[in-house]
Amino acid sequence: MFWQGLSEEHSRQLSEHGFESIKRRQALRYFTWRWKWSATFRSEQLRYLLSHRHPGEWVHAWRSNDLSGDEWGDLEWSKLERHFYCFAVRLLWAYAEDHGDREVLDLPEPLTGGPIPVHEAGRLISQDLANSSIEVEAMRRALDGQPPRSILEVGAGYGRTAYSLLGIFPDATYTIIDIEPAISISRWYLTQLFDEDRLRFLAPTEVDQIDDHSVDLAVSISSLQEMTADQVAKYLQLFDRVACGGAVFLKQWKSWRNDQDDVTMRFEEYPIPRRWLPRFVERAPVQTRFVQAAYVVPS
Ligand SMILES: C[S@@+](CC[C@H](N)C(=O)[O-])C[C@H]1O[C@@H](n2cnc3c(N)ncnc32)[C@H](O)[C@@H]1O
Repeated sequence: MFWQGLSEEHSRQLSEHGFESIKRRQALRYFTWRWKWSATFRSEQLRYLLSHRHPGEWVHAWRSNDLSGDEWGDLEWSKLERHFYCFAVRLLWAYAEDHGDREVLDLPEPLTGGPIPVHEAGRLISQDLANSSIEVEAMRRALDGQPPRSILEVGAGYGRTAYSLLGIFPDATYTIIDIEPAISISRWYLTQLFDEDRLRFLAPTEVDQIDDHSVDLAVSISSLQEMTADQVAKYLQLFDRVACGGAVFLKQWKSWRNDQDDVTMRFEEYPIPRRWLPRFVERAPVQTRFVQAAYVVPS
């Protein structure tokens, strides 16, 4: 129900605006946060960033950015909101420079999909690359330094995590399981950036096509909480089957209330298979209302 409603809204946006502006439309319903000045003190992310960066960096992050150029296109945000968004992304980027994965931060932010134009040190930076770098740092801890050759992601949004992992692990292949319209969006995005033979896109009904023991890293970021308990259990069982001998990385809301389906999902209630060996289960940095956890799945 929950995603059915959102999917219809996203499909309407796609027919109105096309794919070229997915990073400033659909992405804002996936994992790109629309930071507003008026919500600064209610936002746990902004409080976290302000308390983890030196005031000298606040001043540096506040300096001006080009707010009226063509790059902003038809984004209906006031100048103040644009300015504040740049400030927050620069603070996040500074945090990621200290705590995130360097190789991810060194990847260029693709112009594909119309990124929101935030610049730092002469380059385009983005909230999504910064968040991915922080998540990849945690995934590397789970992988014990082993580069994964086969990655599976459930609920990939437009493909921000896939972009980072395919970029830093050039020998890896990537399978996405998702529903419409996200699966069409990530297919559109990723097939422009990577060889098609590294990519596979599956509907939830096609998961039997994934071989047992074939995945080194299975990932779900902010996707399980919007499913029914039965769907969550099926995806965790899928990970158990296909990522045997590999690692699982989960980053989900600690608690999420889905009014439409009358369900509250709590991280600690997920039916994690007992045989999985936890590497860590911890409060996520920045998005502190999320839990991030990694497990080794014994063969
Ligand atoms: C909040 S978005 C997160 C996107 C992405 N993980 C990220 O961090 O950018 C949730 C994702 O879960 C997907 N999703 C929802 N229900 C699903 C289902 N039953 N099976 C697979 N994916 C699903 C949505 O289509 C969307 O891609």
